[in-house]
Amino acid sequence: VVDIRKLYGQTGMFTYDPGFTSTASCESGLTYIDGEEGVLLHRGYPIGQLAENSNFMEVSYLLLNGELPSAAELENFTYTISRHTMVHEQLSTFYRGFRRDAHPMAIMCGVVGALSAFYHDSTDIADPVQRKIASHRLIAKMPTIAAMAYKYSVGQPFLYPDNKLSYTGNFLRMTFGVPAEEYEVIPAVEKAMDRIFILHADHEQNASTSTVRLAGSSGANPFACIAAGIACLWGPAHGGANEAALNMLKEIGTPDKIPHYIERAKDKNDPFRLMGFGHRVYKNYDPRATVMQSTVREVFDALKVNDPLFETALRLEEIALNDPYFVEKKLFPNVDFYSGIILNAIGFPTTMFTVLFALARTVGWVAQWNEMISDPGQKIGRPRQLYTGPAARDYVGIDKR
Ligand code: ACO
Repeated sequence: VVDIRKLYGQTGMFTYDPGFTSTASCESGLTYIDGEEGVLLHRGYPIGQLAENSNFMEVSYLLLNGELPSAAELENFTYTISRHTMVHEQLSTFYRGFRRDAHPMAIMCGVVGALSAFYHDSTDIADPVQRKIASHRLIAKMPTIAAMAYKYSVGQPFLYPDNKLSYTGNFLRMTFGVPAEEYEVIPAVEKAMDRIFILHADHEQNASTSTVRLAGSSGANPFACIAAGIACLWGPAHGGANEAALNMLKEIGTPDKIPHYIERAKDKNDPFRLMGFGHRVYKNYDPRATVMQSTVREVFDALKVNDPLFETALRLEEIALNDPYFVEKKLFPNVDFYSGIILNAIGFPTTMFTVLFALARTVGWVAQWNEMISDPGQKIGRPRQLYTGPAARDYVGIDKR
């Protein structure tokens, strides 16, 4: 028996932690989560208070700068972001290379990754001014890029940003407006959408944020790092879960079918899981799901619509939370469980759901990336492995195999 660690000179303490369930990868002053208590704080402020009283621009400022802005600081920040909402005209030709039926997340990965080819003057990460400009560009351009991905998929012309509107109002107009008509932003919908952006703004070292940090740790430019985050977010176990959750609710349909799906979720031989349920960190109700659930009715009232899937979702939650399987495993609804119902009511196709998540999370990614780059102790991320392959052996010629 060969001790492979000695063979390859691996000595000293070594932790093996698949999925990093108990390994901190960094220090961060942005977001605090107490998963047992269901607490989420941004720079110390509870997410419920921010969702109720703040707006996405203010939360973005808070995440980037560490403190809530004064009125003048907020006005200045909002103005600065609005000055960057346009994208390079040549970028719009980029879209035309994609098939119309391409998933908008595939388009997002490509287009955001390509930003570094358009904005060379903000890719020097050693320069704090360039870092700041790149951060503002990413936050400002993401709604434009996301709306263009939607417009391209439905075959409608792109709309230029209207900087008189709010960040969120402008995004809604670029998505649902058409050049021939005035687009009226419905305040309750704008508020709900803005709140959804706040709820998704940051969430400490989740998979996509860790991806952004890992990519950034090698010195990659910020546009490339955010594109890496978007790719990671796309997975159904992460940002893709809101799309999967609504598809699941549609599949379940009526409340009488719920018990069948609950049994499937409990069956270890069945890969089916309740999408929008469970979380790596929350072993209690996800505080974002609470806000999301209450926002559903606000949007229904504003749009004068009702969706029977909301009743199905409420009933599913009730049944699951009284089932010993979900109780013992501490599986509660997460942020994605109710968000799809709201986004569907507003008019977004399911394929756009993760795009909206990426739009909002860009603020967190950018803030985390800046925090990492500004840290003098920052090192390239380079995990080790537990080698399980063969011991050293001699090459055998092909005629002897
Ligand atoms: N439905 C049924 N069973 C579940 C679910 C679920 N949604 N989630 C976890 N479990 C079970 C697992 O089968 C496992 O059971 P076991 O211990 O008997 O093997 C146990 O609960 C623990 O699950 P893990 O997958 O080990 O937990 P982990 O922390 O790695 O995963 C995750 C968390 C990926 C979120 C998981 O709960 C899941 O797949 N949920 C559905 C997808 C989802 O909603 N993702 C969104 C997350 S929030 C976000 O990204 C914004």
